[in-house]
Amino acid sequence: MTTKHSAIDNSETERLRDRIADVLTRARERTTLLTGSVDEPDLIAQHSPLMSPLVWDLAHIGNQEELWLVRDVGGRDPVRADIDELYDAFKHARANRPGLPLLDPGQARDYVGTVRDRVWDVLDRSALRGDRLVDGGFAFGMIAQHEQQHDETMLATHQLRTGPAVLSAPAPPTVTTPVGGEVIIPTGEFTMGTSTEPWALDNERPAHRVQVPAFAIDAAPITNAQYLEFIADGGYDRPELWSQRGWAHRGEAGLVAPQFWERDPAGQWWRRVFGVPTPLRPHQPVVHVCWFEAEAYANWADKRLPTEAEWEKAARFDPATATSRRYPWGNTEPDSGTANLGQHHLEPADVGAYPAGASPAGVHQLIGDVWEWTASGFDPYPGFRAFPYAEYSDVFFGGDYRVLRGGSFGTDPVACRSTFRNWDHPIRRQIFSGFRLARDLGAADV
Ligand code: AVJ
Ligand code: FE
Repeated sequence: MTTKHSAIDNSETERLRDRIADVLTRARERTTLLTGSVDEPDLIAQHSPLMSPLVWDLAHIGNQEELWLVRDVGGRDPVRADIDELYDAFKHARANRPGLPLLDPGQARDYVGTVRDRVWDVLDRSALRGDRLVDGGFAFGMIAQHEQQHDETMLATHQLRTGPAVLSAPAPPTVTTPVGGEVIIPTGEFTMGTSTEPWALDNERPAHRVQVPAFAIDAAPITNAQYLEFIADGGYDRPELWSQRGWAHRGEAGLVAPQFWERDPAGQWWRRVFGVPTPLRPHQPVVHVCWFEAEAYANWADKRLPTEAEWEKAARFDPATATSRRYPWGNTEPDSGTANLGQHHLEPADVGAYPAGASPAGVHQLIGDVWEWTASGFDPYPGFRAFPYAEYSDVFFGGDYRVLRGGSFGTDPVACRSTFRNWDHPIRRQIFSGFRLARDLGAADV
């Protein structure tokens, strides 16, 4: 440790250590809020067959942290080797998790606390370099992202639970004049994915050049008011607007409006927001729609969903320098002026509420508010290599999934970048999902 650069290296490593401590602490504060705001029966209950009991997510968060940071990075003995199987997401479907001999809430809290105490010691002793797993703090960043991803899943469980509201937060910013219309992105190559973002997950890698023909993309996500026009025009009753699979699902699931919408006898629409009936806000991005609903809306509007490459180009490409940025607004971290992330609000913000977060071309709210469905299936980029485990991405490639981009109001900034890829089945809508549209350009546009 006596190179002539050690003083500089040490202060950089210390800054990284502090950043890791911050993101791990922030994740745990959120986990504690989401699991501490309901009583014990509620933690053990299954609020939907789509979701795990909250107490499963809690111990699973601790178990992943133990596997990667205590045992693998730290080389320490197991805290609880006997429970790995219970908290392996591939061993038990969500619907079956309530029947398992899970740790009770008190045991689960003790467990995650014990694991975290060991992690502080592992972090103190790690050089944060030396092999690919720890270089740049990757494994710590991965585990912070993992906890935040489960926190977002637990937030979706909170939205599904019935009974009095337990969560509250300030209302998101509103606008009087919504942002609308389209932005044209000219033809050309751009760099998609990343090879340099230190905490990017395996499916975001490697960076590669993609040729994207000119296209138009909506300046903002589709709003409740726009979606209401689709409903009023018989959108849910016209099979010609739906794909065959979409129409079959619409029938089986009885879809008539986004999830959690309700119409009162006077014809007024309401949305149940974490237990609170809320009048529909017209300029707010629509949320809790499945991919098939987005597809039908696109057909009705005579447009289409953007491909993943189109979405990422709109979110990253800076025409002035012809390079790809980390975020639409530049390379600075998201904050309360640029994006609605991090569960600071419990709803998407009106379209136009984050002018400082727009891209150079004028595309708004690509990051935050709602996950945006794309037209693309979940496939590996050219040169993909699973790292550090195949069960994060590799086993899902080529399945019946669609990619979602951009993060929601319930996504933490540590788990959100313009390269970040999320995916789900096209029928899912308990996630915080919305969409915006795109279209090919015709002769009239150029
Ligand atoms: C990337 C959100 C699809 O929650 O299923 C959590 C993230 N992977 N634990 C999911 C994940 C393993 C994953 N998604
Ligand atoms: Fe997980």
